[in-house]
Amino acid sequence: MCGIVGYIGHRDAYPIIIKGLKRLEYRGYDSAGLVLYDGADLKMSKTKGKVSDLELKAEKEGTTIGKVGMGHTRWATHGVPNDVNSHPHFSNSGKLVIIHNGIIENYEPLKIELIKRGYVFKSDTDTEVLINLIEEVKKKENCKLGKAVQIALNQVVGAYAIAVIDVEKPDEIVVARLGSPLALGIGENEYFIASDASPFIEYTSNAIYLEDEEMAIVRLNKPIKIRKIKDDSLVDPYIQELQMNLEQIEKGGYDHFMLKEIYEQPSVIKDTYRGRLLVDQGIIRMAGVEDNLEKFTNAKRIVIIACGTSWHAGLVAEYIIEEFARIPVEVEYASEFRYRNPIINKDDVVIAISQSGETADTLAAIKLAKEKGAFVFGVCNVVGSSISRETQAGAYTHAGPEIGVASTKAFTTQITVLTMLALRLAKAKGTMPNSEYQRYLLELELIPKKVEEALQTTNEAAKAIAAIYKDSPNCLYLGRGYNFPVALEGALKLKEISYIHAEGYPAAEMKHGPIALIDESMPVIVIAPNKGHYDKVVSNIQEIKSRSGKIIAIVTKGDTQVKALADHVIEIPETTEALTPLLTTIPLQLLSYHIAVMRGCNVDQPRNLAKSVTVE
Ligand code: G6P
Repeated sequence: MCGIVGYIGHRDAYPIIIKGLKRLEYRGYDSAGLVLYDGADLKMSKTKGKVSDLELKAEKEGTTIGKVGMGHTRWATHGVPNDVNSHPHFSNSGKLVIIHNGIIENYEPLKIELIKRGYVFKSDTDTEVLINLIEEVKKKENCKLGKAVQIALNQVVGAYAIAVIDVEKPDEIVVARLGSPLALGIGENEYFIASDASPFIEYTSNAIYLEDEEMAIVRLNKPIKIRKIKDDSLVDPYIQELQMNLEQIEKGGYDHFMLKEIYEQPSVIKDTYRGRLLVDQGIIRMAGVEDNLEKFTNAKRIVIIACGTSWHAGLVAEYIIEEFARIPVEVEYASEFRYRNPIINKDDVVIAISQSGETADTLAAIKLAKEKGAFVFGVCNVVGSSISRETQAGAYTHAGPEIGVASTKAFTTQITVLTMLALRLAKAKGTMPNSEYQRYLLELELIPKKVEEALQTTNEAAKAIAAIYKDSPNCLYLGRGYNFPVALEGALKLKEISYIHAEGYPAAEMKHGPIALIDESMPVIVIAPNKGHYDKVVSNIQEIKSRSGKIIAIVTKGDTQVKALADHVIEIPETTEALTPLLTTIPLQLLSYHIAVMRGCNVDQPRNLAKSVTVE
């Protein structure tokens, strides 16, 4: 977590840093800070709170001048999010300054050693230990900053993306990465440093993504030199052309990024299947799958690893892949998988799902699976992300930047990719009659239109229901089959952005416990499309009704049976059962959104959360 930005060049650094930090706030927003070299000295402003608080403070303190500088937006790991613990951090001499995204795990013994040598610490952070370690090395070895950073990092255990400035050499910024992302933007006589490319896309479309264990000295008017931290060997920089554009990372007239992203779903689902779902030819073609088709078809088992919303997409995929391709699927939280010595065989295929492609637990789980000989396939949204590079093959979701912390379009595009994968495997294995396969292709192609319709028809209903239940302290979400994971996801959305306690359950499990919670004040959201286990869900609704629970049902257009029982219904268009999650999820996203807005919550930046969880 945490976002970092740096600039060195001919422009004023301040507006670039502030704007860049605002774009990176999805990575954490507990505190923010910046430092600028004003031609004579390093000036710093930092504060608890958001980048807008930093902006006020920096302007009041006059920390706005300079062509070299860097900034940080923090998701607190060590130390409470107060002014002192905010980044940047200076070394004891006041000459070196650092910003850091990550965790230095062995900071305690290093700190004790530095204290013995006379260093004093103002903050509780691991980062202040690192900058003083760099200072100590620089003094002891009498070397330049780059060398000192390198020697210090070789003593450090943990994860980092760092940028360091030495007041005595203000024409360079030293950067390094291990486990946390770091992109360098290459302009004309100027360089940008950032956790992702969003802070610099209007200035340059050329970027270098540092790999793990690499460092670079970013020096004014000199080409960037990249070296391996461990052995000092030079690395050829690989300059990539960015695909992102400015429009994609702005709100485009919507009140919140989350709402914009919910409404983008029809077009991004289309982007996800464009060039892959070839209805005219009656086939699905995904390069990463075609190239590894045998591995998939020979797989004894597929293990899906992911966190959060991506894990829910994995659960939907479990139902779909098992049904279509008849391959056993297990879905695991990456954080559990990596710490439990899992049994992985060479003929297992592991699918890692991650919007950001940076989630630390998922990344570690991938490395473990690879060590055990599995073939690992990635489903990521962020192009060039760590997970997309660590996996042996994969498919991008092409959802475009997702900035709202609560994931929406990433979920539906992940399901789209995984559905296409399941269909392709079904075709290859002959586990689905061709007529059914063709029907699915046609139906999948219609999904964007149906999502569009669902957005139009369910928004007002979701808003009206939100107004009634916005003050409920609890909420239950029930679904069966393909829609059980959607119930989990619906509950997660509500928890994340409105801070209402919500639980998702398979509807039939109600009677094994949660039914005890039902009374007239408990809203129960039941996902009840007219397919699959409809009759069973109707029985579950009756059970809730007879205990006076309030029923909000998501039903297929034209439904009469559930309508007669429920307190409120939201209608979605009809589709084939396996594809219903792509539609049932829409009103649940909207419901959470409206409740959060009505409760005055910060929809895009919910408390305590961050979008890219680069710590374990
Ligand atoms: C965080 C985000 C969630 C996301 C999860 C996994 O918790 O707030 O929205 O689902 O991380 O992230 P990933 O980028 O790996 O999908």
